[in-house]
Amino acid sequence: MKKIALLATALVAMASMASAASIVNTKHDLHFGSSGPVSDAGLIGTNTNQICIFCHTPHNPVTNVPLWNRANPAAGGWTMYASPTLSASATTKLGGGSFDNDSISLFCMSCHDGVTTMGAFTNKAGITPEALIAIPGASKANIGGAGGNKLNNDHPVGFNYEDAQAQDTGLKALGTANTNLGGSAFFGATGKMIECSSCHKVHDNAFPPFLRKTNDNSALCLACHDK
Ligand code: HEC
Ligand code: HEC
Ligand code: HEC
Ligand code: HEC
Repeated sequence: MKKIALLATALVAMASMASAASIVNTKHDLHFGSSGPVSDAGLIGTNTNQICIFCHTPHNPVTNVPLWNRANPAAGGWTMYASPTLSASATTKLGGGSFDNDSISLFCMSCHDGVTTMGAFTNKAGITPEALIAIPGASKANIGGAGGNKLNNDHPVGFNYEDAQAQDTGLKALGTANTNLGGSAFFGATGKMIECSSCHKVHDNAFPPFLRKTNDNSALCLACHDK
């Protein structure tokens, strides 16, 4: 009997290990009472008692997928990463300084631009957004830099991985990279776009900071790069 109970406990423990870690009390939990160790108090709600609402709504979203409750920054007008060794098509896409309208990276930048305030969600159900601050310039989580549109000092995102890989022998095949990253790591209508979420899991801080997998021994980098 005791053995069975122990086995059951072990199985429950294993099952919970296999499941994703929760967003609750991470830096992406901005609800009133969150203990997410956020650098500035003004980033967390003072009365909003829901977590998902800062990003999602079940009805009347601003953008249908993923039931998005925030107005995103414009798709154009970005200063993107550029270098002489980036493969041609990636340079072309990035050189244009724009994202596709459905780019997941724009969803991240609706907070990480350092310009848009955390409380800037729109909810038709009548939950009033609060007067919260934007991620301050001093925070390392401010990715947008001056003006909120500078991504030239960030790993390139918002282009077709397969197009880049076809011209860059230092990258693994899309399918291999996707498997290495745990699946569903590329986005857009083609399912081939590399975005912030190719490296990050917005709801899961099991590998801080919200990484898809450990970067011990650069495992995250080596998921895509053949170096
Ligand atoms: C800080 C913003 C943010 C918060 C808060 C948030 N999400 Fe998300 N969620 C996203 C983004 C961005 C995506 C788009 C895909 C991705 O990056 O994983 C997404 C995608 C999803 C998806 C579809 C893809 C998947 O991962 O299954 C579900 C379901 C989801 N969120 C549920 C929730 C629920 C439930 C909550 C609250 C407990 C929540 N989210 C809180 C940003 C957020
Ligand atoms: C609703 C606003 C919001 C959205 C949308 C959002 N974040 Fe964040 N994120 C935050 C805040 C607030 C922090 C903490 C900032 C601070 O501590 O100064 C944070 C912190 C982070 C951190 C650093 C965590 C740490 O431990 O230092 C990462 C990585 C991150 N976010 C990635 C993402 C990615 C990738 C997306 C899109 C898939 C995203 N975030 C979307 C609000 C957001
Ligand atoms: C190629 C993988 C990759 C991509 C793409 C990527 N990140 Fe990160 N990000 C990382 C890694 C790895 C870290 C941890 C950095 C460290 O520990 O020095 C990180 C750290 C962060 C942090 C914490 C601040 C810091 O400097 O450590 C934030 C915020 C963040 N990322 C947001 C984003 C956003 C927003 C995007 C899309 C515009 C994005 N990331 C795209 C890999 C990536
Ligand atoms: C999801 C796949 C993916 C992951 C994970 C990834 N990269 Fe990349 N990386 C790319 C792609 C695609 C490019 C663009 C290559 C090109 O167009 O030539 C790139 C470009 C770069 C560049 C610029 C190359 C140049 O020619 O200027 C550097 C440097 C780089 N990555 C380093 C890293 C590091 C360090 C990590 C881990 C923290 C990492 N990458 C993780 C896919 C990835």
